[in-house]
Amino acid sequence: MVDLAFVILAAGKGTRMRSALPKVMHKVGGKHLLFNVIDAALLCNPKKLVVVTAPLMESVRETTSKHYSLVEHAIQHEQLGTGDAVKAAELLLQDFKGIVVVLCGDTPLVRAETILPLVELLQHQPHLSMAVLGMEVTQANAYGRLVVNKNQEVERIVETKDASDTQRQITTCNSGIMAVDSEVLFALLPKLQNKNASGEFYLTDLVGLVKSECKLCGLVLTEAESVMGVNSRYELSIAENLLQNRLRRGFMDNGVTLIDPETVYFSQDTKIAQDVIIHPNVIIGQGVAIAEGVEIKSFSHIEGAVIHRNAIIGPFARLRPKTIIEESAHVGNFVELKATHLGKGAKANHLSYLGDSVVGEKANIGAGTITCNYDGFAKHKTTIGKGAFIGSNTALVAPVSIGEGAIIAAGSVITDDVSENAMGIARSKQVEKSDWARDFRETKFRS
Ligand code: UD1
Ligand code: CA
Repeated sequence: MVDLAFVILAAGKGTRMRSALPKVMHKVGGKHLLFNVIDAALLCNPKKLVVVTAPLMESVRETTSKHYSLVEHAIQHEQLGTGDAVKAAELLLQDFKGIVVVLCGDTPLVRAETILPLVELLQHQPHLSMAVLGMEVTQANAYGRLVVNKNQEVERIVETKDASDTQRQITTCNSGIMAVDSEVLFALLPKLQNKNASGEFYLTDLVGLVKSECKLCGLVLTEAESVMGVNSRYELSIAENLLQNRLRRGFMDNGVTLIDPETVYFSQDTKIAQDVIIHPNVIIGQGVAIAEGVEIKSFSHIEGAVIHRNAIIGPFARLRPKTIIEESAHVGNFVELKATHLGKGAKANHLSYLGDSVVGEKANIGAGTITCNYDGFAKHKTTIGKGAFIGSNTALVAPVSIGEGAIIAAGSVITDDVSENAMGIARSKQVEKSDWARDFRETKFRS
């Protein structure tokens, strides 16, 4: 098996995004565009993986290094084009012999199975020095056009800006992904010129150079979707949509019911077991795991939460990070949980906020219960014992602890701990004034 090195180009200005954030740091499915590309590359089992960024993109390098130990960084000092960007990686690859695969950091839908056929082609057809991944498109937009001969070899890539009217009619386009024999690549890169409409050193000109050296460039076609480039917010929304459809399809294939798939949004790290039912209009952010038999009802927003078997969430529930919902617990409408552990079979069915709390098994949290976890300076903890019953409209002023089996009377403001099996009541006593209402009305009628 030949050695693989990846060069991922990410130094471009990304002007069309109109953003202070580098383009490759925008996200689809909650994951940076660049990280999607790195993950696909890693699945191809590379020996080296170089990401090319611009000098000011220190934050990209830092974030990337934190996540990926294999990644090495090359800096492209001026953004002189994709050919120049690959040159920036040369030093890091000087001892490498094998196939160099060039990917763009802005194609988040790319997968290992998209890339590997290129490598296989080069391995099986040793007469080829490089291979380009192409795609058939209905609208070529700004993609480079592939000039292909009758042997299915690519003779040239023409960028839109430089294309003649006839060349613009070509619908076979460059995905931006290519695989090149390392020796050929670094021998030809210095020969790239920037005499074109953009004044850039195009990596795509490598194909013409290969041909002029009497070498050959192969072609692999893939579906356009998996290599779509994100250059604008509009394209970002298209990529997000395609990715969401992939995730939805994957979950359904694994036994998750999505009643109206297009209204449910997932993150790429979402984990869902089989026989989970998700109703329309649910948003699942980062770090969510949902076990078998859970039902998520409409308009729930969930992030950073682990939901155990057979729990019921929503409608209109909000689960925030560090929340754990144990088996068969219920979280109902307009209930927000943050850093809260809701015990097995416990219920918080209506209009509550539980933050920094531990709620014991089978406890019942009445409508309107609020844990007052924040004093303006620090967060404090609330503990509610097994089987406790918190009456409606209770404020639990943390730090506070309610013992197992205790009952809190509705409308209480609880500032002190309540013992096991006790009743805690903290509200003003009811007063009854006989006939007061009738007397009041009479004075009103008289005047
Ligand atoms: C590029 C290809 C085009 C192909 C398209 C596919 C070239 C000249 N054109 O066009 O044929 O159809 O991708 O999506 O290669 N970058 C750098 N340094 C630079 C310039 C760009 O690192 O100096 C990076 C960008 O961050 C980006 C990638 O290279 O990740 C591609 O650059 P971009 O400007 O998006 O090229 P396209 O115009 O999309
Ligand atoms: Ca692009």
